[in-house]
Amino acid sequence: MKKLEVVNIIKQINHKTILSGTSLTIEKGSIHVIEGKSGSGKSTLLSIIGGMEKPTRGTVLFGGKDIYSLSDSEQSNIRSKDFGFVFQTFHLLLEMTARQNILLPTQLNRGTEDFMSIDELAQELEITEVLDKKAMYLSGGEQQRVAIGRAIVTNPSFIFADEPTGNLDVKTSAKIMDLLLQLNKSKDMALVIVTHQQNLIEKPHIKYQMEDGHLRVEMTYD
Ligand SMILES: Nc1ncnc2c1ncn2[C@@H]1O[C@H](COP(=O)(O)OP(=O)(O)OP(=O)(O)O)[C@@H](O)[C@H]1O
Ligand SMILES: [Mg+2]
Repeated sequence: MKKLEVVNIIKQINHKTILSGTSLTIEKGSIHVIEGKSGSGKSTLLSIIGGMEKPTRGTVLFGGKDIYSLSDSEQSNIRSKDFGFVFQTFHLLLEMTARQNILLPTQLNRGTEDFMSIDELAQELEITEVLDKKAMYLSGGEQQRVAIGRAIVTNPSFIFADEPTGNLDVKTSAKIMDLLLQLNKSKDMALVIVTHQQNLIEKPHIKYQMEDGHLRVEMTYD
């Protein structure tokens, strides 16, 4: 499997430096946990690593190729085949049902058969009861679990999750994190997670602190 190498990323918005020279390498099956104060640049970094926001300078190499130098269709191919993204604010299509939201990425990947079963996924995420409700009628925690389902249904190699348990109670968030860790173990999915809930992540992983646009490794657990 291809690895992701994030090399010296700088992001400036309106002359303000949001990220100042961030590098990290994400290997197959590895787990990366990013913490840091609100506004420190965590979501911005995740969008850049996930192929959704071009950095001002620096490169994101996927299998040795700079993803931002590829054509739009090659970039969207990588995003829909290889990456799964859980947005901090979910970004669900509110007029569509939970089921339709989860299945959306499978429609961009026609020809590939390797999808998770929606029923098993719903069971794991404890959203079976709400699968056919419109997303707009779901609670925050239910929407969050639908967003996680949508990110993992295609069995991507990399999951980027921005505070994926931010709206969940302790028990449900432990269950969701277990699911992500189980996918990491059984399918070698790499996880890059922004979270403050430290004790939810098992070893091995690398923990980073984001401080005013500087990412530093705080601890490596193995
Ligand atoms: N499109 C934009 N235009 C202007 N400023 C932006 C934009 N995107 C991000 N920023 C600014 O960049 C900084 C970092 O934002 P980011 O969302 O990455 O922080 P964060 O660490 O994810 O915070 P939180 O923990 O609150 O989610 C903030 O000061 C934010 O206001
Ligand atoms: Mg954020």
